[in-house]
Amino acid sequence: MSRDVPYNSFQLVGKYLNYYINSVGKHGVHPPFVFDFITKVLNNRRKYAEYKIASTYFNSLLKNRSSITIEDFGAGSRVNTSKSRKICEIAKGSSQSRRNSELFFRIAKHYNCRSVLELGACLGVTSNYLSLVPNVDHVLTVEGSTTLANVTKSYLSKQVGNSKIKVVNALFDDFFDNYTHSDNKYDLCVVDGNHKYSSTLNYFKKLKSLTHQNSIIIFDDIHWSPGMEMAWKEISGDDAVTLSLDFFRFGIVFFNEKLTKQHFLIRY
Ligand SMILES: C[S@@+](CC[C@H](N)C(=O)[O-])C[C@H]1O[C@@H](n2cnc3c(N)ncnc32)[C@H](O)[C@@H]1O
Repeated sequence: MSRDVPYNSFQLVGKYLNYYINSVGKHGVHPPFVFDFITKVLNNRRKYAEYKIASTYFNSLLKNRSSITIEDFGAGSRVNTSKSRKICEIAKGSSQSRRNSELFFRIAKHYNCRSVLELGACLGVTSNYLSLVPNVDHVLTVEGSTTLANVTKSYLSKQVGNSKIKVVNALFDDFFDNYTHSDNKYDLCVVDGNHKYSSTLNYFKKLKSLTHQNSIIIFDDIHWSPGMEMAWKEISGDDAVTLSLDFFRFGIVFFNEKLTKQHFLIRY
């Protein structure tokens, strides 16, 4: 069996139980940086006004029953592989949940991220949340499907008039090879598409040269397949990574040299 074939539901439940039993909350961690993350970012229950704005955008997508024909990138979608799909179904099946997007919002806010790169725009749900963080100056989001990229561009400009987001229509590999990045490195990167072992490791390698010591990278679906688990293990074990946090659905890595190398399963 290929390492990139996703786990079935039973395997995922088993993996989740294992994660849940071994995961820790604020009482299980001692490093001040991780304690600060859990208490001030993860467990921050404040209802930011921006959540409502981002949620309104998400809701409008969830109500849109028109169909579009999109290119399918295989491992990019767990739910529906057909080519003609309703916008509401794409929004429901492929976008990050509100809970995750709100957490990403708080991460960008707490760590004062200014420039954000997302691989996998889809309908722009996560990029919209991130662009609403006051300290974020710009969000560059990459989408391989031309139809999705165009729909997202027009949706974002019509619904929220959001000029902080730039949607680039490119395959991730082409983006890394051909896009001219400004001198500034990205403070926060979200890898949310093409969940294959070798591609994920390749993106990590490329992102390392586009980030700095205080950058943060979020990898989605780290337990989706044996290949993604292998990639996550190699990424968290990389010499440059000083802290890796496993939330089951996604993982976050930090490069801050002041931290002592550690890995935690965080109860989420
Ligand atoms: C899970 S969705 C992203 C969801 C989005 N981050 C959100 O929360 O709103 C993944 C997206 O990545 C795109 N994608 C997958 N593989 C790709 C590749 N190799 N190059 C470019 N885009 C790709 C898919 O078309 C899909 O729209």
